[in-house]
Amino acid sequence: MSTEAYIPSIGDRFSFGIWTVGWQGVDVFGAAVRAPMPAERAVRKLAELGAYGVNFHDNDVFDFDSTETQREERIAAFRAALDETGLVVTTATTNLFSHPMFRDGGFTANDRDVRRFAISKVMRNLDLAAELGAKIYVCWGGRDGAESGAAKDVRAALDRCKEAFDILCGYVLDQGYDLRFAIEPKPNEPRGDILLPTAGHALAFINSLEHSELVGLNPEVGHEEMSGLNYAHAITQALWHGKLFHIDLNGQHGPRYDQDLRFGAGNARGAFWVVDALEAGGYAGPVHFDYKPPRTEDDDGVWASAAACMRNYLILRDKVRAFRADPEVAEALRAARVGELALPTLADGESWRDLRGIVPDAAAMGERGMGFERLDQLALEYLYGVR
Ligand code: GCO
Ligand code: MN
Ligand code: MN
Repeated sequence: MSTEAYIPSIGDRFSFGIWTVGWQGVDVFGAAVRAPMPAERAVRKLAELGAYGVNFHDNDVFDFDSTETQREERIAAFRAALDETGLVVTTATTNLFSHPMFRDGGFTANDRDVRRFAISKVMRNLDLAAELGAKIYVCWGGRDGAESGAAKDVRAALDRCKEAFDILCGYVLDQGYDLRFAIEPKPNEPRGDILLPTAGHALAFINSLEHSELVGLNPEVGHEEMSGLNYAHAITQALWHGKLFHIDLNGQHGPRYDQDLRFGAGNARGAFWVVDALEAGGYAGPVHFDYKPPRTEDDDGVWASAAACMRNYLILRDKVRAFRADPEVAEALRAARVGELALPTLADGESWRDLRGIVPDAAAMGERGMGFERLDQLALEYLYGVR
């Protein structure tokens, strides 16, 4: 396969958060290593690289303490770059974690004034999101959590989180916006424990909402893997519930701090199955990357890593398609009885009565191997590049 085949096109629907390439590298041990990046520069550079769309926090475009005039100027510059490049705003979100007032979270801060302002800040950016054509609004509860036991009444926090989503869904419906919310789970960082830590917790929470039809998930690779969970399984279950509204693709090396590596780095084998899960169909949103160019990189390194996210996706897509089209794989799938799982356990017209008295041929059933190793080795050989 020539390297030319891995050039992204608009049809691939790749998108990036403005804050990803714009990350200046500030961490707990050191200051910024890169210059601030105006949103319009991120838009122009991402368009050059072949991206289709962008996602933004309100304060990626204008500062928290902007005057009205400054806010309008920054939005105008952002919009001009979008118009000029044809990049689409697929998604938007709110920064409810940077300002000191959000030290204890937004929707679930103990301080009621903070909660009221947090919801208001989301509504204001929903107006901009709708105006710019976004269809999905991501909610990451960045600092909604705790470090210590007594500090947070978790039941009350869940009540307040539900209240926030009920208010915001009401707002979207009253305004007639064509927008749906996507909750982004994360287990920890910046809080010791964040509420709605995994895709499973968030799916269960959504069922309690007044307008649960307007709320789905935005699972992030690294966030599930920080808990040692399988991201391909998480997005597949979200799809099964009709709740995969958005995705944050990136890379992570197992349970540790949130690495936000470029997609395809970190757990490469996991990334193969993520692309396979997406190729299986059912997800209609953008292929969105939420990563951080490491602090080691200068401006060139930023764009090299952004391009690599898309390139790695295309490389893996190629490998996944070749794996799925391989007759030897088809045979190994048959031998592993993978297709048999799609057969209902009861035949037509049967009930529990037909199972209750089954006398199994236990010896024969116990002897049957599954053939999974041969099948998985075929997948690994595609990934390792020898097939
Ligand atoms: C993280 C988070 C953030 C959110 C984004 C949306 O890496 O911890 O993913 O990047 O996705 O800020 O609010
Ligand atoms: Mn992350
Ligand atoms: Mn994210």
